[in-house]
Amino acid sequence: MLHRPRRMRRDSIVREMVAETRLSKDMFIYPYFVTKGKKVQQPIEAMPGINRFSADTLLKDVEKGLKLGVNKILLFGVGEEKAEDAHSAYDDHSIVADAVRLIKKNFAEDIYVITDVCLCAYTTHGHCGILEHDYVQNDPTLDILAKMALAHAEAGADMVAPSDMMDGRVLAIRQKLDQNHFENTALMSYATKFASAYYGPFREAADSAPGKGDRKSYQMDYRNAREAVREAKIDETEGADIVMVKPALAYLDIIRAVRRNTTLPVACYNVSAEYTMVKTAAKLGYIDEQRIVMENMFAFARAGAGIIISYHTHDILEKKWM
Ligand code: PBG
Ligand code: ZN
Repeated sequence: MLHRPRRMRRDSIVREMVAETRLSKDMFIYPYFVTKGKKVQQPIEAMPGINRFSADTLLKDVEKGLKLGVNKILLFGVGEEKAEDAHSAYDDHSIVADAVRLIKKNFAEDIYVITDVCLCAYTTHGHCGILEHDYVQNDPTLDILAKMALAHAEAGADMVAPSDMMDGRVLAIRQKLDQNHFENTALMSYATKFASAYYGPFREAADSAPGKGDRKSYQMDYRNAREAVREAKIDETEGADIVMVKPALAYLDIIRAVRRNTTLPVACYNVSAEYTMVKTAAKLGYIDEQRIVMENMFAFARAGAGIIISYHTHDILEKKWM
């Protein structure tokens, strides 16, 4: 026999040697929901193991994460005052801005803080931009997003991550940051973000579901892969430092296509319902959580993601799954 691939599978030493894909804790970003108040640690029902934290309890959890090696976090603000013009999103003392200040004051360079930049948790109607005549207005939204990004940068965010899917927002944010001497604040773009049912549990967590209609006029149609590459290329041209694909599990082909068409680092977002499906089935005893989670993480890396944003991060590191 000329070919015996099984030789390279015989024992664990040889399997480790020939493994094509590796994971490291440095690839992981852990998302957090931050809310008002003190001593809040409110479990999110649809996302077992995930909580809404107030800044003080957040600090404790971040510290716990740091000990595990989680040194990159992504913050979402929840429970802010909502308005038509989303003005609380760019308040100097928004929940997110204040949380960033507190985290940076305590952990300084030990932690890399990323903030989500989008209006859906800050608008009365729950859309990611300014709504007029039942249509999310692109250009009037850009300035608000840029102000929001600037407020986060001023609070000390290391990186901002726009998730709104307006056209031209990467350039608008980049220019705003540069004009205000935040040229070293990085930008990770949710470049190819699909209109997806996989965000369901997140919308409960962030109280950010659109009151009326859906997000299909700005988020991408999941039937389109070429367009996804185009979106990533546009964001690269506009100055993004990292391009992200979201969701991840049902979009491995997109991760691969984007990886092949950009020289930028590629991230993927293992979103809320992907997490919930695994957690729920594991709770019921139908699947082996550790094995399922790690198979998923390796799939993201194999597809081409060098960065993984996942709610599983603490479990993976705490339980030494990796
Ligand atoms: C806000 C935003 C969403 C997610 C990240 N940022 C929800 C949405 O677009 O409706 C989803 C994250 C997740 O499901 O874990 N634009
Ligand atoms: Zn949004």
